Amino acid sequence: MKTLQSLEKTVHALIAEGKGILAADESAGTCDKRFDAYGIPKTPEMRRKWRQLLFSTSGIQNGLSGVILYDETIKQKADDGTPFPKLLQGRGIIPGIKVDGGTVPWEGSLSEKITNGLDGLLGRLAEYHTLGARFAKWRAVITIGEGLPTEGCIRENAIRLAMYARACQVADIVPILEPEVLLDGTHTLARSKEVLTQTLEIVFEEVQKYGAHLEGLLLKSSMALPGKESGLTASPEEVATATLDAFTASVPASVPGIVFLSGGQTPEEATIRLNTIVQMAKAQKAPWVTTFSYSRALQAPVLEYWKGQEANASGAQAIFEKRVKESSLASKGEFK
Ligand code: 13P
Repeated sequence: MKTLQSLEKTVHALIAEGKGILAADESAGTCDKRFDAYGIPKTPEMRRKWRQLLFSTSGIQNGLSGVILYDETIKQKADDGTPFPKLLQGRGIIPGIKVDGGTVPWEGSLSEKITNGLDGLLGRLAEYHTLGARFAKWRAVITIGEGLPTEGCIRENAIRLAMYARACQVADIVPILEPEVLLDGTHTLARSKEVLTQTLEIVFEEVQKYGAHLEGLLLKSSMALPGKESGLTASPEEVATATLDAFTASVPASVPGIVFLSGGQTPEEATIRLNTIVQMAKAQKAPWVTTFSYSRALQAPVLEYWKGQEANASGAQAIFEKRVKESSLASKGEFK
């Protein structure tokens, strides 16, 4: 790989102090589902208006290092004709791209899922690089339940993540590996930590087997949390301890950074827990930088205010600016 230095430069820009990533890479279908809740028309034009509102919010460049886009979005333009990747670059924000093809039921166990998208990946990466993308995301989902996850499903997802990581690095694109351990379920915090540890151990085993350059990638992870339907609660300190214990057991020290998904936590929960994780990671002198790569925890209150109405746009942007600022503070362990 001739591009190691270039990959590392992108990685370090993405995890710069006080910065994190906005995941705005919802597929058209997922974005439409979010729009449905407010009766917003499900059209490419409304999805474009929504992304324009987010990307043109003032001040966000102080807290965002990168934005993950979707295939439709990376090809869309702002009202003045500026392509979205260019608009972001102009603000010092690195454009990224979701390249997985979504999940399908896994034949090995029908209640688990596997992520598709390796076919034609190198060609798509070359195209996205031309469009300005310098990092990418691939999401696998790991389900906790009765007898789940199976090692077979974790392994198959890990192999695909590793192959994706290699392909990205060859294309001078930083891969973000996202094996999301789902919040859904009745499991305990201890079980979540156990599954997170097992998943990440297998992922990094395969990533190393396939020869991906660890210093040139980022991990996107869930926090260890009790299942959403468990009726259990955990303090930010308990969440941070369990999460960092899982990482210490499974994530090589040469991985530069771990970014968190919000995964159905409220914006407040995601912010407070990140703040505590960062404080604890700093106190433990953890080898990796920890920050955010949220979608819902950054966007949900903004969409709720906007509702697709032009008259609400500036108010929605004020909420987004505040969400980015709070997340940025949390990524430094300074959120109060
Ligand atoms: P959430 O923060 O809404 O979990 O989304 C993050 C993401 O990128 C999921 O793939």
